[in-house]
Amino acid sequence: MKIYLLISSLLLFSILILSTPVLKNQPKTDRKPAVSGTVLQANQEQIKRGEHLVLTSACHDCHTPKKMTDKGPVMDYDRALSGHPANEPAPDVNRKEMEQKGLIVTSTLTSWVGPWGISYAANLTSDATGIGKWTEKQFFTAIREGKYKGLENSRMLLPPMPWDMYKNMTDEELRAIFAYLKSTKPIKNVVPAPTPPVTAASGK
Ligand code: HEC
Repeated sequence: MKIYLLISSLLLFSILILSTPVLKNQPKTDRKPAVSGTVLQANQEQIKRGEHLVLTSACHDCHTPKKMTDKGPVMDYDRALSGHPANEPAPDVNRKEMEQKGLIVTSTLTSWVGPWGISYAANLTSDATGIGKWTEKQFFTAIREGKYKGLENSRMLLPPMPWDMYKNMTDEELRAIFAYLKSTKPIKNVVPAPTPPVTAASGK
């Protein structure tokens, strides 16, 4: 009987010892979701801030296609920030005259004719044809240095992209805008390449 008691208390003891690390780990696994919850919340706040900046800094004006209504053209938010639609023809205007007179024309605000030729607002959605594959560094280079695709050795961004103004945004603001753009609905749209000016004199 004594031996039986001894064995059973030893057994109980070893069970307790064995289960201790499991118990120790318990709070850790409990804490994990709380930590990522805070990170998630911080991300959500950053994305919200980015959305606000995009809405108040005119990005939609040029980067969101318009649709025609009886009240004139309005933002087509179903295609928000997807740039000049690939299937929309370039403005049919006398480009030579416009370039010589320094005139600028735009039909939907997504395509622009001026002394630099024709430029098309870029796709800024999270799709691979937009900024989906961009790093934050590329975004900073595009806005701060006006480089196409945010690559150091690429061409300068054409007017009327006002990067020279936006470069004054703080790091925190640019980070928030980028986080928001990365969270947008991906829209596949390969924006046409810009066209050089027809008159040599107006070329830069
Ligand atoms: C007045 C019109 C206009 C406004 C406003 C504007 N953009 Fe642009 N943006 C353009 C055009 C046009 C291009 C294409 C320029 C080119 O092809 O060189 C462009 C290009 C870009 C590019 C480079 C894309 C690439 O593939 O290299 C980024 C990034 C960008 N815009 C972000 C923004 C953001 C963010 C805002 C708002 C804070 C904004 N733009 C507001 C007209 C505009």
